[in-house]
Amino acid sequence: MLKIINFLCLSTLVLIPLEAKNVQVDELTKGWTLRDGDSTMQFSVAKIPSGVYTAVKDKYGDLLAPDNDVKLRWIANKTWIYSRKFETANELGQDSLVNLTFHGIDTVAKIWLNGELLGETDNMFIRYSYSVGHLLNFSPNQNNLEIEILSPLVEANARVQELEQKGNSAPPSCPESRGDVECHRNMLRKMQMSFGGAWNPAALSSGIWKPVTIEYYTVAILRDVDVAIKRTDTHWIMDCRAILNTPDSEKFYVQLFVYASQLLDEPFIIEEKQLSYASPTLEFQIHIPKEKVKLWWPNGYGTQQLYPVMFSIKTYRSSGEPRLSSRTDSQKLLHIGFRTIELVEDKDARGRTFYFRVNGHPIFMKGVNYVPAQTLPELSAETETLKHLLNSAHDANMNMIRVWGGGLYESDSFYSLADTYGLLVWQDMTFTKATYPIDGELMASMRQETVQNAQRLAYHASLALIVTNNEIELYLVKNRSDFGAEAKRLEDEYKLLFVGNLCAELDIISRNDFNPRPGPMISTPSLGIIEPGKELAKDPQSPDYGDVHIYEDERDALAQNIYPQARFVTEFGYASLPMRSSWQRVLGEDKSDASLAALIRQRQHDPKGFIPLLQQIAYQLPFTLQNWEDNIDEFIYFSQVSQALTTKLAIDVFRSRRGDYQTMGALIWQLNDVWLAPTWSCIDFFGNYKMVYYWAKDFLAATNIIALYNDERDQLNITITREDYMESPDVKLYNIFINTFLWKDIFSKKAIARAIGLRSSSIDQLVIPLESVLYEHHSKEEIFLEILLKDEEDRVVAKNFFYPVPIKDIIGIKDPKLNIDVIDVECSNTNSHYTNKFTLRITIKYPALFVYLELTDPEYANQMHTFSMNGFTQTVPLQNIYLEIKNDLSCITLNSEHISVKTMNQYML
Ligand SMILES: *[C@@H]1O[C@H](CO)[C@@H](O)[C@H](O)[C@H]1NC(C)=O
Ligand SMILES: *[C@@H]1O[C@H](CO)[C@@H](O)[C@H](O)[C@H]1NC(C)=O
Ligand SMILES: *[C@@H]1O[C@H](CO)[C@@H](O)[C@H](O)[C@H]1NC(C)=O
Ligand SMILES: *[C@@H]1O[C@H](CO)[C@@H](O)[C@H](O)[C@H]1NC(C)=O
Repeated sequence: MLKIINFLCLSTLVLIPLEAKNVQVDELTKGWTLRDGDSTMQFSVAKIPSGVYTAVKDKYGDLLAPDNDVKLRWIANKTWIYSRKFETANELGQDSLVNLTFHGIDTVAKIWLNGELLGETDNMFIRYSYSVGHLLNFSPNQNNLEIEILSPLVEANARVQELEQKGNSAPPSCPESRGDVECHRNMLRKMQMSFGGAWNPAALSSGIWKPVTIEYYTVAILRDVDVAIKRTDTHWIMDCRAILNTPDSEKFYVQLFVYASQLLDEPFIIEEKQLSYASPTLEFQIHIPKEKVKLWWPNGYGTQQLYPVMFSIKTYRSSGEPRLSSRTDSQKLLHIGFRTIELVEDKDARGRTFYFRVNGHPIFMKGVNYVPAQTLPELSAETETLKHLLNSAHDANMNMIRVWGGGLYESDSFYSLADTYGLLVWQDMTFTKATYPIDGELMASMRQETVQNAQRLAYHASLALIVTNNEIELYLVKNRSDFGAEAKRLEDEYKLLFVGNLCAELDIISRNDFNPRPGPMISTPSLGIIEPGKELAKDPQSPDYGDVHIYEDERDALAQNIYPQARFVTEFGYASLPMRSSWQRVLGEDKSDASLAALIRQRQHDPKGFIPLLQQIAYQLPFTLQNWEDNIDEFIYFSQVSQALTTKLAIDVFRSRRGDYQTMGALIWQLNDVWLAPTWSCIDFFGNYKMVYYWAKDFLAATNIIALYNDERDQLNITITREDYMESPDVKLYNIFINTFLWKDIFSKKAIARAIGLRSSSIDQLVIPLESVLYEHHSKEEIFLEILLKDEEDRVVAKNFFYPVPIKDIIGIKDPKLNIDVIDVECSNTNSHYTNKFTLRITIKYPALFVYLELTDPEYANQMHTFSMNGFTQTVPLQNIYLEIKNDLSCITLNSEHISVKTMNQYML
């Protein structure tokens, strides 16, 4: 970084005339007030980005406190007005243009400046910009800005009525009496999950969810640079499009400098180029010799090398020098990664493959679905939270993250973190499981949404695929019979919107002569990119093509035969409850079990309630839950064990099918949460890990050993999988050990070993009759297997357990006589954050199944804390676990009484 700054200054002196000035951008952050449309209440607004729920929190309570999602619904039923006064910049040259730019307003709004209606908005995903020079008062007068945000509830209902008067419908119609969702989300270009759903509250936000800026400039402003990367034999080509905004109605001129000291010996310069005001885009290519570039790789395959590249543009009206002291300079600093991404859809015996090839290398996508970090969009870009979530995905060996269509086009920080952590982004556009009307100005608005967001995101190395909608094709096909005479119109409108318009707009970030990335794809799940024809797919969930979403939560999810042999599983997952200390942070004064049970019940928004979860537990675990309310701690523990077991089994099955590219991706639903509730998340709302997250580090590890039971033949199918990349293909030698344990004894009774050689990015499989690992006269119920993969130096590189019968049928398990000691503590302090690392020694006398540690100390349990492992099975008499607690105040002391332990053993004695 330092290097490029020096370089910049130097070149500034040489190349840029001293008179030229930067475009001036003032952010209107502070000094806003908020009042309701009836002018009965007034609030001061801490800062923009802001939303009404956040601004009125001190008076009416936190949206996420118990029951407030219901009690505060009236907020969405009102008009709210944001206002502030502002001064203009004091020295406004005669040639200055001034724009007032709203980077995101949520959602239907009227904007007033000094009493004049400046414009109206109705799409929270687009930027609105207005020329305001003629309306501004110059000092000492002040300017008065008001943004009147109409009730999204009222607006959605009004639009549905309008549509129905024309004789049209836009399914889904209003679901009957489901108190936890609001209707007609598809009427507004607003984050769709705001209307509520199975894992989140209905909270129809209103607000200014992205910055508001006043921009002073002379001709035009550089908004985005779309950089597409192509590799030739000798060079990398950066194919760039600098996108400018101008209100001019005449052609203008630009001069461009690109500084990238690590890539270019000299700045890249375009001396002068004429641009048309109609599409003010500057296109150019920069060639970089291959040897200057180190590749960007997804997590687990190599480093995530990113290069800073500064784009600097001057604009002027007439050919020749920019005018004296005019605001002509506009800049963007991007971090560029060099990689190629393809989606391979090759014909094979049963259909078509569907897998990603990065830098020419086929990669199995192990990953997760992402929902916005907060249910209130103005809070969704908080960097520390994003860092924790994406870093956690990285640490669990994930390499893909899907930004789901019910959420947002995420913030710039999100995609920059994805670049840094090597998480390929599967980006849905924000349309989900509904029909979307296209009449009036809607189509133009949705086209603009597509262009603006695509241009903002396209340069990121991590952006792998854009899909125009979530589950809409499936929704139309499966529900066709419900639509009656409307079915044809709805399907035609679907094709017109997604295929005819949005897909066509996405061409703006594609290139004719090369593909910077695959796609776009129309819908997920679908038959893939190659397939879309004139008609919708008969079965978008076909396992032979494209991708599928799998929810089989009422069948025994440990039965392998419920999983179709799918090409790519974009969604699958199982639910669980967050840990007690997290719940306690949400409960008010009354922390009794009764009030906790009430909260858990109120937050269960799955239309199927607790049935699937209780059923999954009942299939496998020794827990008869007549009354989970009386056994909340057990319910939490069993739900987390169940989620971990089922998710792991599914991943094991998918990974074992990697051969011949039969299955090449599995994304867990879902990484994170927007509130504390029973949901499918791996990480709870406070950032604490559920058991499945701890397990994921192992079951998603690059090198893994998987054991699946083939009940027809009573044999074990063992798969060794190696997901990595080597410059030159090599074969590594491994030894497999299968140790047979009796539940009643800590020493293994029997071991068999096999040697195996494995290339990078491949799997190998072998079959072992179950009989051969049984011990003497003991039955399957009495044993379990520890399966180890060791490298040539005899180091354990992967470890797994195999339980031959459902856990509840185990015989002979004993009290493990488990003991915990805190044997060491380290406390370090950076920027007044204290990190406390405790070493816990865990001793046992008998095998301990699913050991679950929980920090219960009343003072510290509500701080973010992580264990090095959790929910593990222990077969060694003694082992160390690390507990890390972050604290803002001081170093912590802790003893073993502050940690509670559960094992499955205790429920089976
Ligand atoms: C919104 O206001 C309307 C009319 O004032 C009322 O009928 C409706 O119940 C209100 N809805 C909510 C969620 O408060
Ligand atoms: C300023 O607003 C005008 C009118 O909406 C628009 O045409 C122009 O592109 C805007 N300028 C910038 C730099 O965004
Ligand atoms: C069919 O419509 C219903 C009601 O809108 C919805 O709940 C269901 O998920 C739809 N089916 C599919 C496959 O999308
Ligand atoms: C186990 O392997 C055999 C032989 O390779 C195969 O036919 C069978 O489908 C596999 N079963 C499972 C459950 O993986």
